[in-house]
Amino acid sequence: MARVETPVTPPDFARWKHEGRKVSMLTAYDYPTARLLDESGVDCLLVGDTLGMVVQGRSTTLGVTMDQMVYHVEMVARAAQRAMVVADMPYLSYQASTEQAILSAGRFLKETECRAVKLEGGRRSAATIRALVEADVPVVGHVGLTPQSVRRLGGFKVQRDIDEIIADAHAVADAGAFALVLECIPTEVAERITKELSIVTIGIGAGPHCDGQVLVTPDLLGLFQGFRPKFVRRYADLGDAVRKAASQYVSDVASGAFPNEQESFH
Ligand code: KIV
Repeated sequence: MARVETPVTPPDFARWKHEGRKVSMLTAYDYPTARLLDESGVDCLLVGDTLGMVVQGRSTTLGVTMDQMVYHVEMVARAAQRAMVVADMPYLSYQASTEQAILSAGRFLKETECRAVKLEGGRRSAATIRALVEADVPVVGHVGLTPQSVRRLGGFKVQRDIDEIIADAHAVADAGAFALVLECIPTEVAERITKELSIVTIGIGAGPHCDGQVLVTPDLLGLFQGFRPKFVRRYADLGDAVRKAASQYVSDVASGAFPNEQESFH
């Protein structure tokens, strides 16, 4: 029987924060994976610009374009029945002006079925977030380690400037975002922000006290064999399973064991 699900929306996040219910978020980039993740009951699917690293094989997220993001968000949003799909705004799709930000976010809302956008930056992005919210775009903020700042930060490093992080988190909430990703910051700082803000905090490398957690799905599944940060918990080793299955196929083709009678037409 077809599943009939009530889609998760930003007001659900506000209610869950009030109830103390934790929020689960995973990244997704394609239709079949997004379908499986949606069926798992995850609350939110983020089409992250980590696309650049875990799908495109780049060393940073900086090269990802709006056209590429729209292409992937469209597929993921078509797969998700319940999970809220959030589209990540790639580097230089919102930094130039608030007008550019509204037009980029508007593309996501007009050309895909996503329900919110995410953008990086605290105080420096507050005016942009405010303009998007005024244009009826639900916004998720992102502070702490912001990967689009990798050149300025000198690498993907834990952020420890407590006063800066806290001021950034408040600026995002005051500007009207409905949720905030906290990336690679000390547990105690994330705990304090989570207590002080009325919006949902979603941690990645930010300890257990956030209102929710997010992981990059290829990391969780063991599909991404590159750098593995300390905060990643690998729930499966699909990389190994893919390698084993493909090498069995290669040897079956070589030996003539594939295809057999049942796999052939007459
Ligand atoms: O792009 C992304 O996948 C993200 C998550 C790591 C939060 O921003």
